[in-house]
Amino acid sequence: MGRLVVVSNRVALPRRGEPTAGGLAVALKDVLKTNGGLWFGWSGETLKGPTTGEPKKLRHQGIDYATIDLNDADYKGFYAGYSNNILWPLFHFRLGLLEYDRKQAEAYRRVNRDFAKALLPLLGPKDTVWIHDYQLIPMAAELRALGARQRIGFFLHIPFPPWAVFSALPGADRLLRDLLAYDLVGVQTQRDLNGLMSCLREGLELVPDVHGGVTTDARRTQFSHHAIGIDTRGFATIARKAAYGPDAQRMRASMGDRKLIVGAERLDYTKGLPHRLRGFGALLANFPEHLNCVTYLQVAARSRNEVASYRDLKRELDSLAGRINGDYAEFDWTPVRYVARAMARDTLAGLYRLADVGLVTPLRDGMNLVAKEYVAAQNPENPGVLVLSSFAGAAETMDGALLVNPLDPEAMAEQLDHALKMPLEERRNRWTSMMAGLEEQTAARWAENFLTELEEMPVPAELATES
Ligand code: G6P
Repeated sequence: MGRLVVVSNRVALPRRGEPTAGGLAVALKDVLKTNGGLWFGWSGETLKGPTTGEPKKLRHQGIDYATIDLNDADYKGFYAGYSNNILWPLFHFRLGLLEYDRKQAEAYRRVNRDFAKALLPLLGPKDTVWIHDYQLIPMAAELRALGARQRIGFFLHIPFPPWAVFSALPGADRLLRDLLAYDLVGVQTQRDLNGLMSCLREGLELVPDVHGGVTTDARRTQFSHHAIGIDTRGFATIARKAAYGPDAQRMRASMGDRKLIVGAERLDYTKGLPHRLRGFGALLANFPEHLNCVTYLQVAARSRNEVASYRDLKRELDSLAGRINGDYAEFDWTPVRYVARAMARDTLAGLYRLADVGLVTPLRDGMNLVAKEYVAAQNPENPGVLVLSSFAGAAETMDGALLVNPLDPEAMAEQLDHALKMPLEERRNRWTSMMAGLEEQTAARWAENFLTELEEMPVPAELATES
């Protein structure tokens, strides 16, 4: 049995504050500890001049970490450019925001090759490699080109659009072919798998077999969906404790007996933040009984500031929040509390528990773990209501949520009104059914299922003869 090698652009290095690490990082660290593993990726450092390409190594609590730096040009071309100004809008169905640039496409390839070159000498013949997300799609093809024969899996955390959308990308077919260098490709939901299958059929004219696999000269690649979860029990415990902490107390004191709607995410145009503000504005306009009786707290952590569309979004939100407050505030009530920075994880957990409504309205989202965290954080005796966009991957399984189309502010206002007035028994029933799902579908279970499927893929001939 070899080690597990996890590869992702961001690495949850131990110095980055383990106490606040998210569910995904915790789940991956757990499997890495169990299997004695390595986590490889970008150090988070950007150098002005050339980089050495030599990984920096660190060992912490039984896990090896190896990270490489990016130089300024690669950061702009690979990270800010191709990954976040081309692939990110493409995979989230936002073709109007995609700004294609051939130099950035080259930088993306080059950095993926550099990652592969730096990782290869660290791999043992029986290791299993698990690569994550859109920043690193071609990495397996680059590893194979250098001779790697290990099992390599890939998981995409964001949505997979159908060919009608995907085909807008110059070089779309090459990026799809890169997926065939993997033994297993995982996406979040059935909807994403349908998108991916349509790309294989229409973009590459490949017909997946009845098991959802594609066989080429080099290998068989399996495609499947695995919904990611959270550490449900762990998050519930954090929320229970945080509800008695000083931050939650301050929040309670500032609310009086008003109700609370909460939203929290990175400040990203996929999250439907302006739509959410419009929906809340429509609630105040169409259901005046909520005036001075409900507060909406939106936490929006600044993100990818070097990309223009993110800066534009910040301005739009500033103005929308200001307008709603200007129109509806009283001298003792601010309808929208808008915090454009990150907040500590336990503070957020406590706020989720206080909130009567969790409002999660992305225009597209791979899964959306905030929806799951909001539910996990609730007090079982008096749970709040989740209002969720039907375009979040989480909507596929969270049947107790009130679903909304974020493009329809009046409908969002109706669902918010429904949520704020929902009787306790209905709230409990909805919460219980969602919580049962979350206790089943944890982050740890997701990793275990994906890795079990990957381990079941046929062993490359060379490895079989070695054992
Ligand atoms: C999403 C992506 C991740 C990414 C994260 C933060 O969740 O799926 O791959 O790491 O956003 O974005 P950033 O650009 O800061 O890494």
